[in-house]
This record gives sequence, C-alpha cells and structure tokens, in this order.
Amino acid sequence: MQMGTTRKSITGALDGSDIIIVGAGLAGLFTALKLAPHPVTIISATPLGIGTASSWAQGGIAAAVGESDTAEAHAEDTIRAGAGLVEPKMAESVAREAPDRIEDLLAFGVPFDRNLEGLLELSREAAHSKRRVVRVKGDMAGASIMNALVNAVSRQPSIKILDQYEARNLITQDSRVIGIRMAYTQKTDASELYDIGAGAVILAAGGIGQLYEVTTNPGLSRGDALAMAARAGAIMADSEFVQFHPTAINIGKDPAPLATEALRGDGATLVNGAGGHFMKQVHDDAELAPRDIVARAVHREITNGRGAFLDCRTAIGREFPEKFPGVYKICREAGLDPIHDLIPIAPAAHYHMGGILTDAIGRTSLDGLWACGEAASTGLHGANRLASNSLLEAVVFAARIAQDLQGRYLGTRHCNPDKSTAPRLKKQAAGDVEEEIVKTLRQTMSRHVGVVRNEEGLTAAIDILENIEHGPLITPKIENMLCAAKLIATAALEREESRGGHFRSDHPQPREEFRKRSFQTREHTDRLCAKVVARKAKTHLNLVHSS
Ligand code: SIN
Repeated sequence: MQMGTTRKSITGALDGSDIIIVGAGLAGLFTALKLAPHPVTIISATPLGIGTASSWAQGGIAAAVGESDTAEAHAEDTIRAGAGLVEPKMAESVAREAPDRIEDLLAFGVPFDRNLEGLLELSREAAHSKRRVVRVKGDMAGASIMNALVNAVSRQPSIKILDQYEARNLITQDSRVIGIRMAYTQKTDASELYDIGAGAVILAAGGIGQLYEVTTNPGLSRGDALAMAARAGAIMADSEFVQFHPTAINIGKDPAPLATEALRGDGATLVNGAGGHFMKQVHDDAELAPRDIVARAVHREITNGRGAFLDCRTAIGREFPEKFPGVYKICREAGLDPIHDLIPIAPAAHYHMGGILTDAIGRTSLDGLWACGEAASTGLHGANRLASNSLLEAVVFAARIAQDLQGRYLGTRHCNPDKSTAPRLKKQAAGDVEEEIVKTLRQTMSRHVGVVRNEEGLTAAIDILENIEHGPLITPKIENMLCAAKLIATAALEREESRGGHFRSDHPQPREEFRKRSFQTREHTDRLCAKVVARKAKTHLNLVHSS
C-alpha cells in the first residue's frame, strides 16, 4: 500500500456501467457513442472537449472517398510510408472501413467541407498519392470533429462523464484488469484515491509528445496510458517510433503550434535562412516527401545554423486567412503575417506510432483491457505514420472495440486494492522541484532520443532517466513520464538501424534483420536500463583506474 494516501471505493456514481473509458479525445468519445445505448463511463482529467490532442488536429481524416481513389491505393500509401513495418492486412482493412467511419462522423454532425458540387473537399498531404484528406473549414478538422462529438455525447444518456478525474493506475487481479484507481484533480489533497471496478477498461488517453521539449501535443500527452498499461504487465510495441512533425511554428511557445502539412500540399515551400530551397536536393517529392525525411532535413538546417522557414507567400498568399484560418490566427497572435512573412519552423514531437500492443479489434495482451487512439499500437503505422491516418485509426478501432463489447454485459468487478499495481510515491511533490525534474526529462529526450539518435546519446539518456528514478522525488506525473521515456529510449537503443521516424546516426541504413516490429514489457525495459547503467559505471571505473 502507498504511504500517506487514502482510498475510497466509488460505486454509486457508476451503477450500471461495466465499461470504463479512460480519455475523452476522439477515440474515447467515438467508442462511447458507438457503444450507445450500452452504458459507459468516461474518465477525463479535463472538462469535456478541452486539452485533447484530437481537438488540435489541423489536417483531417484520410479516406478514399474521391472519385479516382481506392482503398487499395490508400493502403499502399500507408504501407509505403511505414517503411516495412506496417501490417498489410491492417492497412487494407482500415482503408476499407474509412468511408463508413466518415459517414458515421457526418451522422454525428461533423460539417466536413464540400465543394460546389456538394462532394467532400479533399486536401493533399505528404506521401499520399491522391488528394484524400477530408477536412473542416480548411485547418479546423480536430476542433470541429470534437465539437460535434462532445455535443453528441452530451445528448446521449447512456454515457456518464467523470471529468476532472485523473486515472492513476489499472487495478488487476490474476493478470486481469478489473478497474481503475484515480484521483480527483480539483482536490487539494491529491493523495486521496478512488477505486472503481469494471468489466472492461478501454485506455484511450493519448500519446507522449510532452516527454519532449518541443512538441505539438497538449500538456496531458505525457505517456500516462502507456505507463499504466506497462505497470500492469501489458505488452508494448514499436515504442521507438516517434513522429516529429517538420513544421511546428518556432515562436518559443510550449506546446508549439502546428503549421499543417496541408499548407505544403497547397504549394508552400521550405527555405533556409539564406533563402535556399533545401528539400529539392533531399527527395524527389521535395516538400511532400515522407514526414520523417522532411523533419530530418529541417533539423539539419537548424543544427547547421541556417534556420528553417515555411514560405506560403506565393502559393497561398492572400487566400491564407480563408483557407487556413487556424494557422493564420496563430501567426497573427505571434506578430507574423504569413501573407508577407516567412514562418519560422522546427521539428516537434507530434505522434507516437508505438504504444500498447493491440490486435485487430483493440484487445491488449491483458484480459479486461482494450486500447485505442494514439495510446495503442495496432500495426497500422509501422515506422512512420501516413499523414491524417491517426484520426482515422482512432475512429476505426473505436468502432471495432464497440462491436467487440456491444451487447455483452461484463459486470463490474470488486476491486481488491492490495492487488493493484500502484506507483511508488516517494514524496508529495514540491511543485518547483517536480517542474525541474520534468524539464530535465524533456530536455534529455529531445537531445538524445529525438530526431537523430545514437548509442552514446541513448545510453546517456537512460543513465539520466535512471538517476531521476532513483532520486529523492517521484510523483505520479514523473513516474508515468519516466516509464514511457524508458520504453522509448530502450527500444531506440535496441533498434540498431534507421527506419522511418527512428534515425540512428551510428546505424544510418535500414537492416534486413530489423525489418520487424518490436515488443517490450516493463520488466524487459527495467532490466535493460539496469544493464546500461552498470556498464556505464564499469567504464567510468576503468577510466578512473587507468588514469
Ligand atoms: C498536419 O495537419 O500536418 C498534421 C496531420 C497529421 O498529423 O496527420
């Protein structure tokens, strides 16, 4: 049992809900709506519609709904972008289901853009062979989709919302997930924990961008879902594959606002500080090359001191405010006018291809636990996600999970708190100290586990992460961030090749023996970290003796 914490069991608030969904982004809300009228409870750390990465999505949803497009072509582009690690059957089935999920979203009231003939307006994004991305008001897809779903959820009596509750842990019994432990975020005494039992828990609590110093993700994208699942013993997959978006707007904001790839789809170009059009030398598709290639080229320009900018002046010019109102507003607030000015950019952690391993219907390796959205690793994205396939994956897997659970009353379980996988709380956080530790962790991840990696840097990162773990202060936030960061750093160390979003300067080519997905457990990660630290200490000792 944890020191200095109290626990309560909530039952009244949950009468009748055997399904708990953790997370209220697109994946969580869509699952709940597809399950209706089956009663579900959604746990959200923030009020509904606020603070989710889904709301910030600018691009839209990829779906082969254009006249000359096919699900086969969409699947092929997904497989090509994924650099050898996409599971082809997964890509094919998801691409086939995409048009139906767009129909669902239209039925929930999402006002996708239409052209003069009334057909869905489609954008082009990198590595798509067709214009294939359905969007809303240019770059407002995420906000509009979430707005429509929040309205639909609030009209649906079968969905209960426990907002401002932060899930802390999965409760397990005999390797089965039987509930959730959570804290009420508005309570000053955050050590008071509440346990709720469930027949099924769906983790849809988002990604990991906040593990990095520069990210497009909101504050709560800090690997909580991964950490909870890993602590409970779930298998993780492809953790090393983090996607860095090449064009986050570099104006010193945290999180960094995004300049959507659709701008490049409409002809915007990338230039360095000397006005050089650097993508031409890098890839035949120039600005529309796969995202990892563009991100590395932008990183190179910045580290070489030339700087990198998005030039929208000629291709978009005066149409900017109407075509991309979201990005235009961000620029104007930062004192930039993209009609006349270059937009300063930098790569930013944007999306995690890895996550909790699931099968084709969202089941994880633990009984009683499903996962979807960015927290899951389904095999769709491989080493590099195709643009606008993330919201698509969220709705496709939400629907599949709902179908898997629909009509099955699973019953709520009685929680036996002593069987839970509780995080260690060394000390209640002194806020400033916690912030310092989080800052160190984020800097470490960006410096050593970022766009360009190598053995020396990854080993240094693991050493720093282990030092934090064995240091004087561990809070739930630090505990989760550490756990997710260690999964990523160790998987990156073990993959001695470059592929998709994972680039190793000491192994710059792909290697055939690594053309497979990676799988990890928390135990494996901890063992590897301990080995790395011991090896580092031994090398240090040898150096001291020989000097
Ligand atoms: C973008 O609009 O560039 C981002 C879309 C995505 O991440 O898929």
